[in-house]
Amino acid sequence: MDQLTITRPDDWHLHLRDGAMMESVLPYTAKQFARAIVMPNLTPPVTTAEMAKGYRDRILAALPEGSDFQPLMTCYLTDDTAPDDLAQGHADGIFTAAKLYPANATTNSAAGVTDVRKLDPVLKRMAEIGMPLLVHGEVTGPKVDIFDREAVFIETVLTPMVERHPSLKVVLEHITTGQAVEFVETGGHNVAATVTPQHMIINRNDIFKGGIRPHLYCLPVAKRERHRLAVRTAAVSGHPRFFLGTDSAPHTLGAKESACGCAGIFNAPAALETYLNVFDQEDALENFEGFASLHGPRFYGLPVNEGKITLRRESWMVEEDIDTKSGDKLKAFMGGEELGWRLVDA
Ligand code: DOR
Ligand code: ZN
Repeated sequence: MDQLTITRPDDWHLHLRDGAMMESVLPYTAKQFARAIVMPNLTPPVTTAEMAKGYRDRILAALPEGSDFQPLMTCYLTDDTAPDDLAQGHADGIFTAAKLYPANATTNSAAGVTDVRKLDPVLKRMAEIGMPLLVHGEVTGPKVDIFDREAVFIETVLTPMVERHPSLKVVLEHITTGQAVEFVETGGHNVAATVTPQHMIINRNDIFKGGIRPHLYCLPVAKRERHRLAVRTAAVSGHPRFFLGTDSAPHTLGAKESACGCAGIFNAPAALETYLNVFDQEDALENFEGFASLHGPRFYGLPVNEGKITLRRESWMVEEDIDTKSGDKLKAFMGGEELGWRLVDA
């Protein structure tokens, strides 16, 4: 097969930032995806419908001429989120979903939730209205080893939460472990996960290959090889509750290459082609459309996109250094590496 035409895909997990950075990175996503779930971890975080509406307007205003890309907005949950306000924002078509960041788990999560049980009234209401909860699944604090934070979160926080709210739609974001795969596979039809390109490609050794590689550092951090294989196998399997979410998270070169480098991998420039390369390597091209274009909307209860895109078998090298409008530079995931598939320009 030398050409693949599929329903236009969506990115169910994306960091666009704001201002000049957003304007610089948005075209990469808008070119490949019809819609994206836009994460709310700005400073200050997007905690109200009014803030989300303003952010959405700024994204729409920054779109390249002729683009019909649709940003799907999320609410950043805090200890003070009011069920009525959240439900109203959902009913008004502003919030597609809400994001749970455990306080201090990752970039701009200081205002996140300190104890998930405090959210029970919010979660109860979300379950009633069918609003998905998107979860950054890591415990915080120094007592748990960084490589165990996802597994411990699943056991001590997520499993009891799902038991308390059995009909709540839950997306465990950017999964990195065999335990997360098992959680989804053994969970109900209302439990799903997104998978990033990097967590199918790198393991924790890659972060230290020949020296420290800050551009391969993200959270949750890549795990052992057996976990990478479990995540990769699940993603290409055709299982309807695993779907595409890039977690593309741009940070400037200076913020990454620093004594205390930020977590986040900027994979937007070649995201779709990077995923397709993996599906091809795994001999699973027939499952690519489901993962990229069908499973996500079905889980969210949204229509599948109408248009199609075509990818062609073609060897090309991903651009490594990306300029932004503020003069800062970004490093792209897979930059300088060859991919075997390329998006055919519409
Ligand atoms: O690596 C990450 N970067 N993980 C997150 O959860 C947040 C993201 C960011 O916003 O930079
Ligand atoms: Zn993220």
